[in-house]
Amino acid sequence: MRSDQLADRICGATRLLFAVCLLIFTFAAVSGANAQSSVRPPSSGDTGFSDPAVSGQVPGNSLGSASDAELWRAVKGGTVGTVSIPDKKAGMLIQYEGQIWREIRNGPLPIYGAWAILGMIVLLAIFFAVFGRVKIGEGPAGITITRFSALERAGHWMTAGSFVLLALTGLNILYGRSVVMPVIGQDAYAAIAQWGKYIHNYVAFAFIAGLVFIFFHWVLHNLPSRHDIVWLMKGGGIFFKNVHPPARKFNAGQKIIFWLTILGGASVALSGWALLFPFTTSFMTWGMEIMQTVGLDLPAWLGLPDPPYTGVAEQQINQIWHAAMGLFLTAVIIAHIYIGSLGMEGAFDAMGSGEVDLNWAREHHSLWVEELEQELDEDAAKHGGSSVQPAE
Ligand code: HEM
Repeated sequence: MRSDQLADRICGATRLLFAVCLLIFTFAAVSGANAQSSVRPPSSGDTGFSDPAVSGQVPGNSLGSASDAELWRAVKGGTVGTVSIPDKKAGMLIQYEGQIWREIRNGPLPIYGAWAILGMIVLLAIFFAVFGRVKIGEGPAGITITRFSALERAGHWMTAGSFVLLALTGLNILYGRSVVMPVIGQDAYAAIAQWGKYIHNYVAFAFIAGLVFIFFHWVLHNLPSRHDIVWLMKGGGIFFKNVHPPARKFNAGQKIIFWLTILGGASVALSGWALLFPFTTSFMTWGMEIMQTVGLDLPAWLGLPDPPYTGVAEQQINQIWHAAMGLFLTAVIIAHIYIGSLGMEGAFDAMGSGEVDLNWAREHHSLWVEELEQELDEDAAKHGGSSVQPAE
């Protein structure tokens, strides 16, 4: 072979090699582009991606290598890219508020919740040790009067029973893994946690029904009145023997329990509903907007951004709110259970048999007894009878 023929062949082989390399490179580039996720950062300048310094290029192209540090910092910071799929939420690869939510959920929430509940139990124990049981000062009269009808008691016990189940199963969701599981083991805890979750989800509807019931039955008796101020100023008389500020059917302390139950219960119910049916509600956005409209900047007080919130943020705020309100209400209801049973002689009968001793009623609800006696007198004058009955 002549030397010029050899040179031609080498030249042809080089061209072929170049063409093959070009083909491979093009193929690699196209398949690389196709392999990318459909979630891309926006090309607009507002995220700074058009700036070579933040678009992953090392300034000056000195080494030709690329650093994606800034891009990933933006992604970690919650930058929303564009997506071609219908679920636009997928445009956010990392929702950084999720980290804040996780820290609150695993930190201050269970810690302050435990303080509230254990603190209440300790306070009540101290109160009981110092003051003992609130007795009927005059002793039982031996005559009872009807305080709550069977229907009212059924409504109360439906609310109470469902609340106790919700509180126990809710506490298990928050503390069970660290408190119950080490004691009974993983398998037993898994079964309890699963059934507890079913109970928590379904019994919630009975609690909501109970709330509606007691609201409509007792709301008129729980409207504020001037007697409440006197009652509160005398501390309900609980710190002094034989001091009983006048009260109608419900005293100021009970009105506070009533409104905390209704408003706290409604708030727990709504946030629970949002957790039960995720991404279908905007309760937090609405609630915070209403608060801001009436001049209460609740988002700022709670360290939250201004509404509206994204679907994921709605779920996170609802979860913290639901748990915090549930814990608060549990602490309040523990005090209510104490005073309605162990703490006060004669109180439980009101929700047990529905009949209370006349002296108990005169001491704790003197105005209510007066109203009742007046009604009975009028009734007796008309029909010649009375519903005040001697006790068995
Ligand atoms: C489980 C134990 C409970 C006991 C022993 C108990 C006992 C009582 C008693 C005796 C009364 C009538 C007080 C009176 O005659 O003036 C009452 C009223 C009431 N209960 Fe309960 N209760 C319990 C649980 C609950 C729960 C879990 C809730 C709500 C979540 C609740 C909400 C109410 C409300 C709103 C009233 C009317 C306002 C008041 O008297 O404070 N109770 N309860």
